[in-house]
Amino acid sequence: MKLTFIGTGYVGLVSGVCFSEIGNQVTCVDKDFDKIEKLKKGEVPIYEPGLQELIFKNTELGRLSFTTNLTRSVQESDVVFICVGTPSLPSGEANLEYVEQVAQDIALAMNGYKIVVTKSTVPVGTNDKIKKIISQLSPHPFDIVSTPEFLREGSAVKDTLHPDRVIIGTASERAAATMVELHKPLTEEIMVTEVRSAEMIKYASNAFLATKISFINEIANICEKVGADVTHVAQGMGYDKRIGSSFLQAGIGYGGSCFPKDTHALIQIAGNVDYEFKLLKSVVEVNNDQRFNIISKLNHSLGNLQGKTVGIWGLAFKPNTDDVREAPALDIIKTLLQEGAVVKAYDPIATPNFRRFFRDESDVEWCETAMEAAESSDALCLLTDWSEFKEVDLKELNGVMKQPVLIDGRNVYSREQLSDTTFQYYSIGRPELESLSPFRNSVASD
Ligand code: UGA
Repeated sequence: MKLTFIGTGYVGLVSGVCFSEIGNQVTCVDKDFDKIEKLKKGEVPIYEPGLQELIFKNTELGRLSFTTNLTRSVQESDVVFICVGTPSLPSGEANLEYVEQVAQDIALAMNGYKIVVTKSTVPVGTNDKIKKIISQLSPHPFDIVSTPEFLREGSAVKDTLHPDRVIIGTASERAAATMVELHKPLTEEIMVTEVRSAEMIKYASNAFLATKISFINEIANICEKVGADVTHVAQGMGYDKRIGSSFLQAGIGYGGSCFPKDTHALIQIAGNVDYEFKLLKSVVEVNNDQRFNIISKLNHSLGNLQGKTVGIWGLAFKPNTDDVREAPALDIIKTLLQEGAVVKAYDPIATPNFRRFFRDESDVEWCETAMEAAESSDALCLLTDWSEFKEVDLKELNGVMKQPVLIDGRNVYSREQLSDTTFQYYSIGRPELESLSPFRNSVASD
């Protein structure tokens, strides 16, 4: 099938590349000329495991191309995917400016029947608006489909090629049949529903996953006070198939470009129809507070942070991505600087993106290696669970730090790994591991 993907962000680029991989003729369109020129040369604007290889392969095979010429691409395609961003407005609502502009561009380009598919995350009712825009501007027949995207950054290629399910929302039998045909090579779990339900499935899924994370983080906070271990609690809960074990990893909360944006948007969608989504409001509040557990644990172990050197491991909102949008590290480092700490930060790949959020970059010492960030530090905080940090030699780490205070915001280390060290170790919701160190509670008084 001949496909156009408009927008070469995470969703558009990864989806386009993966649909070329399964044999379709794909053109990825973006109005950003420099980005398209780079993509033509094989330069990938995002870090995503496996993506570069697939771009090379499918470009070579002549199945994948990049262009700024939306009109020609739409005219040559059977199916056109809208994959542009829907960032948050100050109200929390999704900004539909780009989606609506692309709908107009498609309408003006059309030369015959097209299936117009929205992959961008859009509030319920948006596809009806898209339909109205196109029908006002184009005399040609078309069908509208909502196919929300469920890929995760860092495993986007795998998620797209092997999705848990595909949701196809449309009122047209013809479009449904084409979309089922297109997605069949990816999975048998294909659900066809009406457009508004498909739009809602995306928000409800992200909101539910965010709820699981905030729920387990609150359980972790209680575990700390009652002497239980949240990792065991989550494991025990997860054996119940009705609950499931995924997304029960306690930590410093969710970040990224999706959960924060989509939870706010759903609260707003509910608000627009006079419904107060109390549960989701609490999920957001719990998440906003959770990152500051790191600061409380630092205060508990070091006392006043003025003049103390704090090493930070991990700036990306999660591992295997250079994306730092809404990363807990942003608030944590800003708070540390406000409290007068000296910050030494390291991330395997996200440092260049992270530095842009600091007006005066010299406020933070940006380190080239994990050990450099830990050297001579009074405390080290692990904020992203990169595998590089999991595999570190903890004895060596113990030796380079000024004070052996290790605050693990992602619960990556075990009792066994820490047993030969003198770390004063704090994690999230695992109080009994703190008692490992013979130096417990001795550091603050140094
Ligand atoms: C999320 C969803 O998982 C995707 O299904 C969805 O397509 C995507 O949003 C989107 O709407 O585009 P993503 O934001 O890439 O994907 O990343 P996740 O792997 O879901 O992680 C989100 C955040 O939750 C990260 O900060 C991660 O550290 C945190 N998290 C995740 C936890 O704190 N605990 C967990 O158990 C799982």
